[in-house]
Amino acid sequence: MLLRSLTGALALGAGLAQAASSNSSSTPSITVKGNAFFNSESGERFYIRGVDYQPGGSSNLTDPLADSSVCDRDVPVLKDLGINTVRVYTVDNSQDHSHCMKLLQENGIYLILDVNTPTSAISRYDPSCSYNADYLQNVFATVDTFAEYDNVLGFFAGNEVINSVNTTNTATYVKAVVRDIKKYIKARSYRQIPVGYSAADIVANRQLAAEYFNCGDDADARIDMFGVNDYSWCGESSFVVSGYATKMKLYQDYSVPVFLSEFGCNQVKTSRPFTEIGAIYSTEMSSVFSGGLVYEYSNETNNYGLVQINGDNVTKLTDFENLKSEYSKVSDPQGDGGYSTSNNYSSCPDYEKGVWEANNTLPAMPSAASAYFKSGAGSPMGTGIATQQSCDNDDDEDSDDSSSSSSSASSSTTSESSSSTSEASSSAASTSDASVVKSAASATSSTQSSSKSKGAAGIIEIPLIFRALAEIHNLI
Ligand SMILES: *[C@@H]1O[C@H](CO)[C@@H](O)[C@H](O)[C@H]1NC(C)=O
Ligand SMILES: *[C@@H]1O[C@H](CO)[C@@H](O)[C@H](O)[C@H]1NC(C)=O
Ligand SMILES: *[C@@H]1O[C@H](CO)[C@@H](O)[C@H](O)[C@H]1NC(C)=O
Ligand SMILES: *[C@@H]1O[C@H](CO)[C@@H](O)[C@H](O)[C@H]1NC(C)=O
Ligand SMILES: *[C@@H]1O[C@H](CO)[C@@H](O)[C@H](O)[C@H]1NC(C)=O
Ligand SMILES: *[C@@H]1O[C@H](CO)[C@@H](O)[C@H](O)[C@H]1NC(C)=O
Ligand SMILES: *[C@@H]1O[C@H](CO)[C@@H](O)[C@H](O)[C@H]1NC(C)=O
Repeated sequence: MLLRSLTGALALGAGLAQAASSNSSSTPSITVKGNAFFNSESGERFYIRGVDYQPGGSSNLTDPLADSSVCDRDVPVLKDLGINTVRVYTVDNSQDHSHCMKLLQENGIYLILDVNTPTSAISRYDPSCSYNADYLQNVFATVDTFAEYDNVLGFFAGNEVINSVNTTNTATYVKAVVRDIKKYIKARSYRQIPVGYSAADIVANRQLAAEYFNCGDDADARIDMFGVNDYSWCGESSFVVSGYATKMKLYQDYSVPVFLSEFGCNQVKTSRPFTEIGAIYSTEMSSVFSGGLVYEYSNETNNYGLVQINGDNVTKLTDFENLKSEYSKVSDPQGDGGYSTSNNYSSCPDYEKGVWEANNTLPAMPSAASAYFKSGAGSPMGTGIATQQSCDNDDDEDSDDSSSSSSSASSSTTSESSSSTSEASSSAASTSDASVVKSAASATSSTQSSSKSKGAAGIIEIPLIFRALAEIHNLI
């Protein structure tokens, strides 16, 4: 604790000293006001111009912010692209990130960080069991590792955990994690770093999920920002044809910032023209949306890359040049972009079997995790730890009978990584609204969304035996 407050004081001092030089604080912290982000120093509205960044993808999952040679290679390329934010899906919280975080900072680039790892996340197959004190320790340790950097824009408590019609029951646990992180940040006296959720675009529960994560009287349990992964604009589309106009209506009353946490449909003949940039940063959308992040920086097997990486060489693809050109053509809206401070939080959707299976009584935090609020999360455990298989037996608040009575069965089913079940979304994740359907765009964007998630943080292939067990378990 002492060390931390010293670090804080030093950072403050350094910030003051730098304020005189021109390239000083290129990334003052970002704050949330109403449904928008603001630069805490200039007071200007902040729009995310970002890319999703996980070179190596799922097949060679590495922490890109812990490897100087990786960020030294990539940050100049990101700078050249003209962005101000990267989203990283998974890191190793036991590593030193100071070099890469500083490099990002010097180049005016913020970080949105997902706090999960493939083996430490809320499981779709046994959300109750996977929500435990070991898991929270790992999450809190990640918060400890990154909270000191002013250019951390926010944390995502989960990514596409709801990815179908039959995974809505996970929402209760993901929302509990949002609550726990927010309380932890307060308890540790960190800066008020926004905590959010990144949602898959599932027609059947898109609106319910948005409402659920931002509903209820407990402000700690409501998200501070909402990311939507949206592949509905394909090629030379338009505001209306893509469905963006419908999304504007859907989120117009939302009380916290909304942004595209993944976009960039690749169902195009050649390269992506990225004409959606013109819409996203226009006054047509700025009253509701705060920019977005293009999926994704490096070209992996799912073919969404802006660059091709070969060892130390980065080759900029046509998509990169197209996106760079769009960014340079399109500036942010003037003034405050018409953001709103008068929207209220949402009212909570009712539990409905087969439709929205998340009630509004969140599980209490596992009691063993309270200790971290007092003294921090302790030494980070890195990526090796598999928390999905450990249930907290001391947690009597969490009275999900089925999970406690069948705890051995359930623990064997939970090697599932919450981010690895993208197949499940292929049938469910159709992304267009009937009212604005352009069949080519919509039909493709559904397969898109699903095949894409494999590359993102879609990390571990589940052994067949576990799949079988999981299916049996879910039938019981
Ligand atoms: C995986 O990523 C690391 C770090 O970037 C790199 O050194 C290694 O060569 C990569 N391995 C493969 C098989 O691409
Ligand atoms: C400031 O900019 C100069 C020149 O671009 C660079 O050499 C230096 O490292 C930067 N310093 C900081 C603290 O960003
Ligand atoms: C959801 O349904 C799909 C398709 O029936 C199935 O493959 C998947 O295992 C189910 N997921 C859960 C968490 O039950
Ligand atoms: C991206 O990678 C995929 C898979 O390796 C490959 O098929 C594709 O040609 C690459 N795209 C480009 C533009 O190089
Ligand atoms: C990187 O590029 C250099 C210069 O074009 C080339 O000599 C080298 O072989 C390339 N390395 C890889 C791993 O492709
Ligand atoms: C916001 O909505 C909640 C429930 O939906 C309601 O109880 C509360 O009074 C509202 N607050 C304001 C300021 O309207
Ligand atoms: C709400 O959901 C949780 C988790 O599924 C469950 O433990 C709890 O019993 C439910 N509460 C109510 C009132 O239905």
